[in-house]
Amino acid sequence: MKKIKIALLGAGTVGGGVWEILQTNKDNIIKNCGYDIEVAKILVKDAAKKRKDIVPKDLLTSNYEDIIGDKEIEIIVEVMGGIEPAKDYILKALKSKKHVVTANKALLANHGEEIIKLAKDQGVHLYYEASVAGGIPIVQTLKESLVGNKIQKMMGILNGTTNYILTKMTAEKVDFADALKEAQEMGYAEADPTADVEGYDAAHKLTILSSLAFGTTVKFDEVYREGISKITSIDIDYARELGYVIKLLAIGKEEEGIIEMRVHPTFISKSHPLASVNDSFNAIFVKGNAVGDLMLYGRGAGDLPTGSAVVGDIIAVIKGKDQPPVQIEETASVDKTIKPMGET
Ligand code: NDP
Ligand code: HSE
Repeated sequence: MKKIKIALLGAGTVGGGVWEILQTNKDNIIKNCGYDIEVAKILVKDAAKKRKDIVPKDLLTSNYEDIIGDKEIEIIVEVMGGIEPAKDYILKALKSKKHVVTANKALLANHGEEIIKLAKDQGVHLYYEASVAGGIPIVQTLKESLVGNKIQKMMGILNGTTNYILTKMTAEKVDFADALKEAQEMGYAEADPTADVEGYDAAHKLTILSSLAFGTTVKFDEVYREGISKITSIDIDYARELGYVIKLLAIGKEEEGIIEMRVHPTFISKSHPLASVNDSFNAIFVKGNAVGDLMLYGRGAGDLPTGSAVVGDIIAVIKGKDQPPVQIEETASVDKTIKPMGET
């Protein structure tokens, strides 16, 4: 049996999910990729802290040198979050010719161009399916299945935490703060939930998707952004009376070479398919000039759904690791105009 060693950076919600899937589905994974995946080390902030027994304590380290210096570790799985030191660790991994899988949308939305370029220059694989919409395979869909299309529009619910909050406020009249607390307890929210409730997280995801869909590098600060922190039960009741629900939508479209990207709360008719996307579920409509309308729906946050995307990426790396990555233009420098959308 061939064996491959990987390291996890992070053993929180997502890291725990990845670990669980690698153990539970071990036989299927071996059958699929021909390798026994061994998690050789796991980086955490505080290796001494008391934690649930999800991952074995003897694998924990708080010293990245233990990982980057280990030549047998071929894949670094970054599920720790934040910009630094995650960026530094990923760049070091790529420079050491280690393949990288990451779930870090904040990092990719702000520094994706640099990271993707380095991976290409080094001839190593970089996968980031879990960075957008948890378990929904939208990144791979845009990169591979829909490449024969010109993408005209994307519209979706890309943040599980805010969708959970809005669902609870609408269906059960739960208070905003209590609903946010529940979302945090479920592991859906970012370390600083401001990223969720103020729309930054959805805007990060829309930045990543727009760069892929519209074939040009868009910048995070080109996305108009408004969160849900000002939505009250009065707004929700008012929407209900008029036959609507309120959802935090992320919308990206390209018309005649002009790209428009925005994230904001929106009144949606109750009969619209997005109106029934509830709890932590996400959904994305994509309109391509060949495929027409397409909708992907699934769990947008949480340990196992997100772990599913990360493990899929690990397996994709393993299957392709002996060939150089296909050089697709994820960060093309095609000049396109971004429609200004006012203050952000
Ligand atoms: P958690 O806060 O649950 O876990 C973070 C983990 O990373 C912890 O184990 C923590 O260590 C470790 N860590 C954090 N900072 C450092 C550091 N400076 N050095 C070493 N280790 C560190 O986060 P999540 O699992 O929820 O999220 C991780 C990433 O996945 C983020 O980028 C997030 O945006 C993304 N993501 C999250 C989803 C979700 O549903 N939660 C869904 C999709 C993507 P310790 O245990 O010692 O605190
Ligand atoms: N905080 C994010 C969310 C995690 O709620 O959608 C998944 O990316």
